[in-house]
Amino acid sequence: MAGSKILIVDDEIKNIKLLKGILFSENYTFCEAQNGDAAIELVHKINPDLILLDVMMPGLSGFEVCRQLKQNGKTKSIPIVMVTALREKEHRLEAMQAGADDFLSKPVDSTEVVVRVKSLLRIKSYHDEISDNYREIAAKNDKLLELEKIKDGLMHMIVHDLRNPLAALSGYLELALLDQDNLLQNQIECLQNSLESCHELNDMIGSLLDIYKMEQGQMQLDLEPAALDRVVVESIEQFQFKAADKQIAINFERRDRDLTVSIDRKLVKRVFANLLNNAIRHTPAGGKIDISAGSDPANESLHIEIRDNGHGLAPEYHQRVFDKFEQVKLANRSGHAIGASGLGLAYCKLAVEAHGGKIWVESDGIGKGANFKFCLPMK
Ligand SMILES: Nc1ncnc2c1ncn2[C@@H]1O[C@H](COP(=O)(O)OP(=O)(O)OP(=O)(O)O)[C@@H](O)[C@H]1O
Ligand SMILES: [Mg+2]
Repeated sequence: MAGSKILIVDDEIKNIKLLKGILFSENYTFCEAQNGDAAIELVHKINPDLILLDVMMPGLSGFEVCRQLKQNGKTKSIPIVMVTALREKEHRLEAMQAGADDFLSKPVDSTEVVVRVKSLLRIKSYHDEISDNYREIAAKNDKLLELEKIKDGLMHMIVHDLRNPLAALSGYLELALLDQDNLLQNQIECLQNSLESCHELNDMIGSLLDIYKMEQGQMQLDLEPAALDRVVVESIEQFQFKAADKQIAINFERRDRDLTVSIDRKLVKRVFANLLNNAIRHTPAGGKIDISAGSDPANESLHIEIRDNGHGLAPEYHQRVFDKFEQVKLANRSGHAIGASGLGLAYCKLAVEAHGGKIWVESDGIGKGANFKFCLPMK
């Protein structure tokens, strides 16, 4: 590489001149040092691209200089070629153990010097290029993380500010619906639909604000001992009509008598609501949903499963569905469900993890149903 900086270290000036002479035609820049301490000082000052290092010198030996440079994070990537009159195998071995990249025997062969220097400089330039790229990617990554933070903060602010106008809108719609005697049937239906949409939007805002809080670690859990089977039964009751609409049977199996666990009831109930809502949505009419809950004494945790016999999930989605706004697109389903925003499972993951638990999904593939499982620590 023309223009590369080469440091030649040798206590004898004639040896330095010889190496410079051999490499003269390659357009390198040279600097020199006649002992180990001066060499180390110079390396830190000029950051050479390659070092030709004599072994036998008064004071610090070449081996020691090499060892020190290779142990230093700032200088370890500079290629070092040991140049020595010592031919014995153990000296070659010591040079390699000290971290040297190559070895030249004195008297040096000029072709060999040129070839080795060239090839090490080429490797060094690849290394520098990779390091530069890595630094550039790391800087871009930091910038992206910063932008992501700003975006999240902004989104949080906007979502938060939507609450008040939405509450006002719902209030006016409710007010208008009080006067049903003076409204036509289709006007009543329009107002009712609008109100329902307001409620959906309000739920979505609630989820987004909770997700934001949990992501920031700002969600204070309101922990209290609760019978998990009660929470499950209440959730099933909440979805009874929706399931009945599609003739979907929901079964619940308690695998233990005592399913008491310390939880934030409101949060865990929403986890069940999200999982049940999904299971009903993705199970065809006449299907079934089996819920089971029991303790795992070995892991001191409660295990809960919500298994449906619906569409199921392809393996590449098993992790991704827990990301915010991630929804599965299937060839036989043109779009997403109305009112679905891809937040439910992200909410479940954060809520379960806030309890110190874990959530995951198992599915044998499309058409084979999905089994959402989570565990909650009992202590
Ligand atoms: N039981 C299930 N069977 C098959 N696919 C499922 C099941 N539950 C979730 N999914 C897939 O995972 C995606 C993400 O689910 P998630 O609950 O996060 O969002 P959503 O249901 O689309 O919207 P939201 O819950 O915000 O109303 C869904 O869009 C769906 O494709
Ligand atoms: Mg959902």
